[in-house]
Amino acid sequence: MSVAKIVKMKGKQKIVMLTAYDRPTAAILEACGVDMILVGDSLGTAVMGYSTTVPVTMEECIHHCRAVRNGAPESIVVADMPFLSYGVSVEEGVRNAGRLLKETGANAVKLEGGKVFAESVKRMTDIGIPVMGHIGLKPQSENLVGHRVAGRTDRETEDLVEDARALEAAGVFSIVLEGTVEEAAKAVTESVSVPTIGIGAGRFTDGQVLVVTDMLGFDPKANFRHNRRYADLHSVISGAVKAYADDVRKGSFPGEENLFRRE
Ligand code: KIV
Repeated sequence: MSVAKIVKMKGKQKIVMLTAYDRPTAAILEACGVDMILVGDSLGTAVMGYSTTVPVTMEECIHHCRAVRNGAPESIVVADMPFLSYGVSVEEGVRNAGRLLKETGANAVKLEGGKVFAESVKRMTDIGIPVMGHIGLKPQSENLVGHRVAGRTDRETEDLVEDARALEAAGVFSIVLEGTVEEAAKAVTESVSVPTIGIGAGRFTDGQVLVVTDMLGFDPKANFRHNRRYADLHSVISGAVKAYADDVRKGSFPGEENLFRRE
């Protein structure tokens, strides 16, 4: 379950990552052989109903990460570091990254940001905490810069490459590239020796990640350009709930097969 396996995949095989936030979903992802499971702070918007990821706490990340680890004991599980858990000081960041590994059984942490977090990443990796970087669109910075696609100009592309190289030098084992123009994501991918994992970053990254609730179609209103819906769970679950409600109301559930009888 070492992240070294992921690093070796660059240039050989595309890396498949999905988010998960609970035990049953994680168990399915593990059985399907996804390469990594990310307990993203997208749990804030995907399962908690927050409008952004900013309110997500360490306790929420720990809670969901434990559930995922219980469902996927053999997988590489990456725990997202929530807003304010690593931005105040290097020491606090290292302590919180360590908590995520110690208290949940995750194999690695992820944090948003480039060269400004190089020292934090170095300290974490120095003491044995594998770190995944995250550059491009950074949802935790939404209040400052909005939800803006990155890498739109040569200058922005150079900044992304510089950030990726600084993260690589600090020791990250991979880098998420979110919401990034395809050419810029390609330039970043070609400029580092660690794998890049894209979401809304085009076809040339070393792997892809999607938010599991988006790709499974839980919310018919969530139509994101970067997403592809592989299922319509909203319809499947609605159909099942309506059928159950009908059965209860007309008295056909529980049935004979659901009853407990005397010996
Ligand atoms: O929180 C998350 O799920 C993420 C992915 C979108 C990469 O950071």
